[in-house]
Amino acid sequence: MRFDILKLNKEFEKASAVAVLQWALKNFYPKLALASSFGAEDVVLIDILVKLEPGIRVFTLDTGRLNEETYEVMDRIREKYKISVESYFPDRKKVEALERAKGFYSFRESVQNRKECCGIRKVEPLGRALKGLEAWVTGLRRAQSVTRTGIEKIEKDEAHGGILKISPLADWTNDDVWAYIKKNGVPYNRLHDQGYPSIGCAPCTRAVKPGGDIRSGRWWWENPDHKECGLHVTDRSQASRDRIQEKKNNK
Ligand code: ADX
Ligand code: SF4
Repeated sequence: MRFDILKLNKEFEKASAVAVLQWALKNFYPKLALASSFGAEDVVLIDILVKLEPGIRVFTLDTGRLNEETYEVMDRIREKYKISVESYFPDRKKVEALERAKGFYSFRESVQNRKECCGIRKVEPLGRALKGLEAWVTGLRRAQSVTRTGIEKIEKDEAHGGILKISPLADWTNDDVWAYIKKNGVPYNRLHDQGYPSIGCAPCTRAVKPGGDIRSGRWWWENPDHKECGLHVTDRSQASRDRIQEKKNNK
């Protein structure tokens, strides 16, 4: 590895998202892309990235089960920023086999079935999207859930051949995200105005009560401890384990 990740994270902990992305572009572009589900964090990242590098690649995993509003915001973003949104579809044969064997809502029946569906519709296409890249950018934030408190801005993504995974908004609050969107007139998914703080596939996402936990509307029938779809499987560094411990001690 040509980078000392622990050192970088120390350096970047107080750095702005722009500074982190400038570093990423300098070191990895054009072998760098943004993974975007077009949620609030991801549209912020598109705005920042396109202003820094108009040629940046933006890809999305089109699971085939997204909300209409998500396709609408993708188109508004395409037009405003004059970018192509690279969509990745799941393998047709795998989806057909799954639906024929287990029906159209198998993901509601067990965590295992849900992970199987996410595996086919998101994780396998992600592997294809990341081929040939040296780093990818995500909109993950620590405050999003109990499974994300240990996120670092720079991580080695062992699940994807050890390329770097960069989360420049790791330390942003929800308010930071929305202040940026409003200030910069960034197009966003209309579902955010209808009580959806986090948006995934239509059948696996619902609105939350005002003030409710950000990800409580995702796979709402599951326990919060395993609500990850497999896109973000990372061996946390010591620094992030320390951060998790520190948070537990302060409770
Ligand atoms: S998820 O893993 O539970 O779906 P979440 O919706 O919070 O994650 O998104 C976290 C980050 O994962 C996003 O900011 C984005 O970088 C990436 N991501 C999630 N879903 C997609 C998608 N459908 N296409 C591309 N990237 C995605
Ligand atoms: Fe399937 Fe739901 Fe996962 Fe989408 S979020 S891939 S519909 S289980």
